Amino acid sequence: MTASATQRQSFDVRILRQAGPGQQSYWETFRIPYEPNLNVISVLQKIATMARTAEGKETTPVAWDCNCLEEVCGACTMVINGRVRQSCSALVDRLLEEHDGEIELQPMTKFPVVRDLMVDRGRMFRALERVKAWVPVDDYYDRGAGPKESQESQEQRYPLSECMTCGCCVEACPQYLKVEATRRPNESIEEHEARQTEAEQGKFLGAAPISQAILFNDHTTGGMISDQRLEALTSAGGIQVCGNSQNCVSVCPKEIPLTTSIARAGRQATWYSFKTIFDR
Ligand code: SF4
Ligand code: SF4
Ligand code: FES
Repeated sequence: MTASATQRQSFDVRILRQAGPGQQSYWETFRIPYEPNLNVISVLQKIATMARTAEGKETTPVAWDCNCLEEVCGACTMVINGRVRQSCSALVDRLLEEHDGEIELQPMTKFPVVRDLMVDRGRMFRALERVKAWVPVDDYYDRGAGPKESQESQEQRYPLSECMTCGCCVEACPQYLKVEATRRPNESIEEHEARQTEAEQGKFLGAAPISQAILFNDHTTGGMISDQRLEALTSAGGIQVCGNSQNCVSVCPKEIPLTTSIARAGRQATWYSFKTIFDR
């Protein structure tokens, strides 16, 4: 612990709040008694019990999302001191050092806000459906062992399997633009989700789903439907939208080699495009 941390009695947390989807956002500041070894989630838990700003004004508890508390599920991702990351693994002592004794929390900007720091990452999961990021199963009869995976292939694919669909890579991507179909009065959740999905058609998939398409294309059984994945990767909003700025790879908390996946996807997509021209 540094000298300034031992002398600190309290610290301020500035939070960008929003009462609901499509509502105006606003800042509120909360004053937290200092304790060593806090993480951002424990700070948010303290704020929930206070429900009072630093100026003493009564307010509603701040909403956020979390699940695993060990950087595995991706649900707690938010923009902390200007950098997108997981709030369960963001340590207060380090944050106070890097940002002049204050912490600033904002929801990710590329997804619709549900409330306060909680966003709807559904677009990422729908993109995984678009690229069929799974090994297809025809039936459940025992057909014996499948084809063997080489050690080399396993080692190449394993890092890609660590993706937790957190959204950091798309938050940092200049080509990934927010799509929000604001919920209409009297619209059911299902109707709204259908309109949101329609609005996302033809929009950029983002680095994570591209990388997942490669994970399953390079799998000996998953590769059986590689053409279907490459069809998605070469359609509107596919790999051609990537501008190769490499922001994605620099923010991925799992250090997934996203630009290598994108390069592999580009090569596979080129071959697929040639093949479909000559198949016609
Ligand atoms: S690729 Fe990395 S940054 Fe992107 S969603 Fe997966 S874990 Fe998060
Ligand atoms: S390399 Fe492509 S996917 Fe990654 S941040 Fe740049 S444009 Fe987005
Ligand atoms: S709570 Fe799961 S990654 Fe933070």
